[in-house]
Amino acid sequence: MPEVLARLHKEHADFARLLDLLDRQQALFADGAADYDMIGAILQYVLEYPDAVHHPKEDLIYNVLRSRDPALAAEIGNLEEEHRELAELTRSLAEMIERAVAEVPVDRAAVRDLTREFIRRYRHHISREELHVFPTALQVLSDRDWAEIDAGLAGDPGDPLFGEVVTNYFQALREDIDSLAELAGGD
Ligand SMILES: [Fe+2]
Ligand SMILES: [Fe+2]
Repeated sequence: MPEVLARLHKEHADFARLLDLLDRQQALFADGAADYDMIGAILQYVLEYPDAVHHPKEDLIYNVLRSRDPALAAEIGNLEEEHRELAELTRSLAEMIERAVAEVPVDRAAVRDLTREFIRRYRHHISREELHVFPTALQVLSDRDWAEIDAGLAGDPGDPLFGEVVTNYFQALREDIDSLAELAGGD
């Protein structure tokens, strides 16, 4: 498997764990028991890594895919548009959570609805990529296409949450994720 696809798969699995954690938090909004600091850290990570590093890697694949198979252009354009929309949604939600962390009164139902929307759209986006677009890309792109994309990976910044070096800001969140995995019987 091309290196870029191996990385994207791993990142999807990591994001799925993060979305599960966020899902547990959104269930606590109604009681006022949600951990807004944790949610803020999750969104900060999404801005720093999925939006800034993961999606641009996919866009490189999608650009080649579109040029090789014009019949896929509409679907690819739609995924790229979703990358922009997801980034916008992340920023809106992050702003709401920032206000909550600063103890500005927030409309809990609005925060809950936007969080649910965020989780739903992210999961849907990832499953389209995994189930349909990546398998198609594997069939359509040549070894040379993959080699060119893989060659650009060297400049990728490390993942500040799931990577080998976890930045200070994300330490607590990483511990929460790991303990959730233990609870679920994972490693
Ligand atoms: Fe994507
Ligand atoms: Fe993705």
